[in-house]
Amino acid sequence: MKKSNRKQLIAYTNPNSPVSEQFKTIRTCIDFSSIDSNMQTILVTSPEPGSGKSTIAANLAIVYAQQGKKILLIDGDLRRPTVHKAFGKNMLCGLSSVLSNQIDLSEVCQTTDIENLSVLTSGAIPPNPNEMLNSNKMTAVLADLKQQYDFIIIDTPPVTIVSDALVISKNVDGIILVTRYGITLKDKIKQAIEVINITHVPVLGTVLNGVSDKKDNYYHHVYE
Ligand SMILES: Nc1ncnc2c1ncn2[C@@H]1O[C@H](COP(=O)(O)OP(=O)(O)OP(=O)(O)O)[C@@H](O)[C@H]1O
Ligand SMILES: [Mg+2]
Repeated sequence: MKKSNRKQLIAYTNPNSPVSEQFKTIRTCIDFSSIDSNMQTILVTSPEPGSGKSTIAANLAIVYAQQGKKILLIDGDLRRPTVHKAFGKNMLCGLSSVLSNQIDLSEVCQTTDIENLSVLTSGAIPPNPNEMLNSNKMTAVLADLKQQYDFIIIDTPPVTIVSDALVISKNVDGIILVTRYGITLKDKIKQAIEVINITHVPVLGTVLNGVSDKKDNYYHHVYE
């Protein structure tokens, strides 16, 4: 993995740092919320752009992989995809390629330098991401992947801007909402929760990203 790509992946580059511990705490909270239900696929979204969804999704995927489970991180953001950049992978051969029947699912998941972690990049940015993500093919693809991986994390676009995360949500067990300290407005969080509630998919928790802390000012989180 190129050094420039690894900046975001602190759970990999510095696994014992306080920030990495916070990701493990989020993992534990998710695991606790799934005691009575089979929580195998989760989606990460936010009220607005730039709150840190992709960073949180990637690091969560890493701490799950560190437990020895077989993990897949899917770039479900077919508008502003970043998973390929973070892991130094080819973007073009990915989810949209499978959904448009250009390539078989068996050929698109890419392994990473991190043991037990594979990624499914976005594929080429399509003209109709919402329709693609809402298709029966998407449901079939996820059903297939659920047979192959222990845990799947899907990075998605902001929920108050486009409905992509909402259409993906019919295929997931839970949602993590990422908000950015000092930036995300209360009303936007309310609006996000209102639209998510329509789906009846449980919000497992909210990550408050970017809280400055004297000991560690990179990230911090609050989980409820
Ligand atoms: N806590 C943080 N402190 C400093 N920088 C951060 C923090 N969290 C994320 N970033 C940086 O902020 C930028 C946006 O983060 P990221 O791409 O994870 O957000 P996103 O919600 O996925 O954005 P988008 O809506 O565009 O998909 C990135 O450059 C990332 O490295
Ligand atoms: Mg993103």
